[in-house]
Amino acid sequence: MEHMDSVKIQPIEAKEVRAALEQAATQTEMNLPVYDGHCQNHSSVNGVYPVCENTQWTCGFWPGEIWLSYELTGEEKFKTAALKLTDSFAERIEKKIEVDHHDMGFLYSPSCVAAYKLTGSETGKKAAILAADQLISRFQKKGSFIQAWGAMDDPSCYRYIIDCLLNLPLLYWAGEVTGKAEYADIAHQHITTCLKNSFRPDGSTYHTFYMNPDGTPSHGATCQGYRDDSFWARGQAWGVYGSILSYRYTKNPEYLDTFRKALAFYQTRLPQDLVPYWDMIFTQGSDEPRDSSSAAIVACGLLEAVRYLEGEEQKSCMELARRMVGSLVRSYTPASLSKGAGQILHGTYSKKSPYNTCTPEGVDEYTSWGDYFYMEALTRLDRDWELYW
Ligand code: GLY
Repeated sequence: MEHMDSVKIQPIEAKEVRAALEQAATQTEMNLPVYDGHCQNHSSVNGVYPVCENTQWTCGFWPGEIWLSYELTGEEKFKTAALKLTDSFAERIEKKIEVDHHDMGFLYSPSCVAAYKLTGSETGKKAAILAADQLISRFQKKGSFIQAWGAMDDPSCYRYIIDCLLNLPLLYWAGEVTGKAEYADIAHQHITTCLKNSFRPDGSTYHTFYMNPDGTPSHGATCQGYRDDSFWARGQAWGVYGSILSYRYTKNPEYLDTFRKALAFYQTRLPQDLVPYWDMIFTQGSDEPRDSSSAAIVACGLLEAVRYLEGEEQKSCMELARRMVGSLVRSYTPASLSKGAGQILHGTYSKKSPYNTCTPEGVDEYTSWGDYFYMEALTRLDRDWELYW
């Protein structure tokens, strides 16, 4: 294993953070007329995001970027654009357009929960509660997990994935605004199953985990990672950020412990510039593509964790976050802004390997969530930010 101390990435300073955030908001502004009322594709194609309808699991990230730009600038054009998308998300959940999967948090937290928190939008609130209802409709009582994809009565689809940890905050939020305990109870049952099965003893994670129809655990596998037993970089990042988000809402010390273990493993596999290869089976010196989105997600997790940690641990998480974001700002942003471009280069959505089952797309491109979490990390460094999650 390589070590990262030969090249020391310097932590980002406050002025650099602000400049990067302003640049990101300018890129977002430039893209407003390109996507007007529509969404960005999950990833760019040759560096430009195609326009797409509001049908993908990733569509919440573009409005999330617009809301973050609104928070930074206070400019009405961002608010108007984001509220137009809120209507689109309301229509999507009301008409149940492509919502037969678990990604309701990815979709509705940075779009509609954000709209409600920032403007009091009742449309956003209602849509996000409907999305939480949709999410709990995927709960499998036998096995106690939220099923990721596919028909609920098809035993071959009887699995959940590590990514779902980012969908749970929608349930905590829905519980808080409705007063109904069922949402948080299902979140609790799901994360309990996930912690039992998806985190290996060394703190690494399986991307997906199959359950038997009788509710007993079957086996870990991958879809987008290199191999079933490897370390898909974004899955590991969902594990880091997802566990601390659940800690935020529950203060269950087991979740904080999981955050620590997942983070410790992540750090052992980072190359010198702190931005992982798409699967962390690849380390310093590999020719494989990176996944910059993984670093942005982990930086957000670190910056959430510093709210609860103390002393040296808090200091080292803050320092690592500042170094990771520094690396992204200095080495992963495009040289100039252009219409349809994103915020951080070198993301990887799904890379085909001889052992995985994914459709290859978005390799070494911008990714919609990478851009969003990059802006979220910068925002968290810029001020005490109230979460959309
Ligand atoms: N949630 C799917 C992914 O991270 O690609």
